[in-house]
Amino acid sequence: MTLEEYCRGILEDGTLAAKLTPPPERLPDVAGRKPISIDQPVRAAGLELASGAGRLPPVRKLGDPEAAAVCLARFAHHELMAVELFAWAILRWPEAPDVLKRGWLHTLADEQRHFRLYEQRLWALGSSFEAHPCSDYFWRHAGAIADSPHGPRAFLCAMGLTLEQANLDFSAHYAEAFRVVGDVESAEVCDVVHRDEIGHVGQAAIWLRQLAPESSQLDAYNRAVPAPFSAARAKGRKFLEAPRLEAGLLPDFIQFVREARPESGSLSSS
Ligand SMILES: [Fe+2]
Ligand SMILES: [Fe+2]
Repeated sequence: MTLEEYCRGILEDGTLAAKLTPPPERLPDVAGRKPISIDQPVRAAGLELASGAGRLPPVRKLGDPEAAAVCLARFAHHELMAVELFAWAILRWPEAPDVLKRGWLHTLADEQRHFRLYEQRLWALGSSFEAHPCSDYFWRHAGAIADSPHGPRAFLCAMGLTLEQANLDFSAHYAEAFRVVGDVESAEVCDVVHRDEIGHVGQAAIWLRQLAPESSQLDAYNRAVPAPFSAARAKGRKFLEAPRLEAGLLPDFIQFVREARPESGSLSSS
């Protein structure tokens, strides 16, 4: 199997089994392959994308297994979309540096593991992933990333430095919230996701520097981030500086994100 065949399998086979099969150790990339831009992933029955998503229950209700399951299913779906989008990026930019594509594949495998961790919590609470709707939230904006003149930099800024940066706040917030209601197992899953996300954001920062060496981190981000992604979407309600510094984000970029306010037309919350 080649890298392209593996990534196509994730997007073109609708089953969870295909999307969650870890990448084999040897997965050769074929020189000269053509870019492929996929609008939406194939989804099997029960996993179909639907527009929009309801509000998440308030965190004080997380002690109620049904409310917890709604949150865990939403987070699991974010992981599944991340799996698909890393495969999508590898297909979209065959000319990206080999080490970057390997890095994306490594992150994809982390996202598969995160999905499984959330799914196990759903089962433990008497629910299942398939019992909840799948919002097309990230996928609505794949076209904007695909069409950006900034190529892989646009993906690094949208995925790593916006959505994953925001998840530094969300994962820590939910880890604490699950602990407050005594659901230590769900809190520990959020802890794992939080730790790994620091690495994912860090990789995006390193690669943005590699691909835009003449610009500061903040300028490179502002230039390449594709609308409707923006700094205002790169954070949760409770802004954490420490994981951002650990990920290698620079103080002026962190400050910019902290102060960013949503503009009209910017990405709404999922
Ligand atoms: Fe993840
Ligand atoms: Fe991630």
